[in-house]
Amino acid sequence: MDNKQFARTLVTAALPYANGGVHIGHLAGVYVPADIYVRYLRLKKREVLFICGSDEHGVPVTIRARQEGSTPQQVVDRYNKIIADSFRDFGISFDNYGRTTSAVHRQTASDFFRTLYDKGEFVEKESEQYYDEQANTFLADRYITGECPHCHAEGAYGDQCEKCGSALSPTELINPKSKLSGAQPVLRKTKHWYLPLDRHQQWLEPWITRQHTEWRSNVMGQCKSWFDMGLQPRAVSRDLEWGIPVPVEGAEGKVLYVWFDAPIGYISNTKEILPDTWETWWKDPSTRLIHFIGKDNIVFHCIVFPAMLKAEGSYILPDNVPANEFLNLEDDKISTSRNWAVWLDEYLRDFPGKQDVLRYVLTANAPETKDNNFTWKDFQARNNNELVAVYGNFVNRALQLTKKYYDGVVPAPGELTPQDRETISEFQNVKAGVEKLLEDFRFRDAQKEAMNLARIGNKYLADAEPWKVIKTDPERVKTVLYLSLQLVANLATAFEPFLPFSSQKLRAMLHMPEAEWDRLGSTDLLPVGHQLGEPELLFDKIDDSVVEAQVQRLADIKKANLAANHKAEPVLPNIPFEQFEQLDVRVGTVLSCEKVKKSKKLLKFEIADGLENRTIVSGIAQHYQPEDLVGKQVCFVANLAPRVISGIESQGMILSAVNFDETLSVVTVDRPVVPGSRVG
Ligand code: 2FM
Ligand code: ZN
Repeated sequence: MDNKQFARTLVTAALPYANGGVHIGHLAGVYVPADIYVRYLRLKKREVLFICGSDEHGVPVTIRARQEGSTPQQVVDRYNKIIADSFRDFGISFDNYGRTTSAVHRQTASDFFRTLYDKGEFVEKESEQYYDEQANTFLADRYITGECPHCHAEGAYGDQCEKCGSALSPTELINPKSKLSGAQPVLRKTKHWYLPLDRHQQWLEPWITRQHTEWRSNVMGQCKSWFDMGLQPRAVSRDLEWGIPVPVEGAEGKVLYVWFDAPIGYISNTKEILPDTWETWWKDPSTRLIHFIGKDNIVFHCIVFPAMLKAEGSYILPDNVPANEFLNLEDDKISTSRNWAVWLDEYLRDFPGKQDVLRYVLTANAPETKDNNFTWKDFQARNNNELVAVYGNFVNRALQLTKKYYDGVVPAPGELTPQDRETISEFQNVKAGVEKLLEDFRFRDAQKEAMNLARIGNKYLADAEPWKVIKTDPERVKTVLYLSLQLVANLATAFEPFLPFSSQKLRAMLHMPEAEWDRLGSTDLLPVGHQLGEPELLFDKIDDSVVEAQVQRLADIKKANLAANHKAEPVLPNIPFEQFEQLDVRVGTVLSCEKVKKSKKLLKFEIADGLENRTIVSGIAQHYQPEDLVGKQVCFVANLAPRVISGIESQGMILSAVNFDETLSVVTVDRPVVPGSRVG
């Protein structure tokens, strides 16, 4: 729908779970695009509100608390602060960042449930669920583990097997065990309240598929497939201690399901800052509601939450839900449990002051239509080849030349040439282009379009060559630099939603107090005679060594994960003792060691064996420098029949351990022994 018909826009960004920090996947998927959008609307002087907060209930919080020996409240207090700090550091400009443990949220969510309950919008149902008789509690799906019925891996959870990815229900697990006590859980009857989504399909389906054909195709696709399967009633309560109590008599020990209370957090976090006018933002049909989310949240924001709002009866529904796909890291899925992520606090420690570089790269690579990949090489290339070489370079040249020729004062232009006119018409188009793309939630293309201003500027300077023309036609240079400076001021404005820190820095250099979006495209943003500030570099190059360190850090994480998950090979069939006795393993001292010519893998050893010494060829050249092995005492099989390898007779075999990653490590002794000593 055309957004001009709306009086105001309420933008929400998915409430992150407060049981971990924020990483680049979160930023790219939800928070940077939402922030760009909101900053743009504010620059357009539209009425806008940007709401977020921590999602602090749910089972994962309780699991983390148990692991740490702390309480759920302590866990969410800690992460709420870490998350809020990261968002602030990256310039994510929420009007309110609240929490779902706040008093106003508890009350709002509780009242919301009660209203639906009183209106008869829920269905009550009894079902059988696993109960831990030792711990005296019903078990959430994540608290039950067992053997996966599909791949037979041990340790599958009650809702999912992480080994084969199948979605499970707890009763499907073979040999279920409670994670609380280790006991075998038993099935017990329990009552829950269900939101009958099946009844809502009637209006939800045409509302989305006919009235919102403009929604992104990934969002529409997911919704359609839910409709095709037929919506089912969803339980909105849980048997759990951590959460908002179900406000109904006889519901002791039950709380609201975290996905019921979390989206209500958008409402309570609005109420928190606007206690008197929040209803205008949630109930007036001239408000436009936009939810920024990741693709795993589509069903909750397009189907479940709208059904809740409709059931309540007085709320508006979302006008758009621009959900992103996922961002991978170096070709692998980002994973908190595997620590496969770039955490925002760690990034800022390693790249202080470079928030905008990350914002830029994540938008340039935004997973808008498909999953995308973040690599450190690409990060470096976009910084060095785009931010430094295109944007920064143009700004720097324009400002330095003005400083050199006119003491940093904006010169008066003369008559315009056809080249000037062409440049002006090109950069005047950029405003409409960026706006159209932003209104369509196409952030990566919008940023590209903004970058065109710098490309236009670089081309203009390269063609006009003021550094040469100054000698022959100084009047002409005044026009060239006047227009270049206008382009620089336009850049500061156009990038304001995307790279707020850099725009602010650039405006300070230009002595330009405010970005006026509506004047984007003008050729008089900086008046003649205006004194500019000192030019500084806007961006700096990132060296190879810096990104190599990041790549190495990830390689170390991958290795540690492999080691942690490595399972030893099954043991071979038993052999009689006599057979073992036939094996003659000895210790020898390496006298010399050298590479075998024309072979990548082989090393040739001379081994002191207490007898006549011997030559052994071993395939460990990729794991050792030959000189590092000289003098070491190694174990070798002494009675292996000699074999000719690469033209050398090998009299035995040096023993090595094969590590999980196929690296080899020679077997040595832990204190010196006489060469030829037997191992047994
Ligand atoms: O997926 C998540 O991270 C959820 N915590 C998102 C909740 S969004 C909203 F409903 F609050
Ligand atoms: Zn499985």
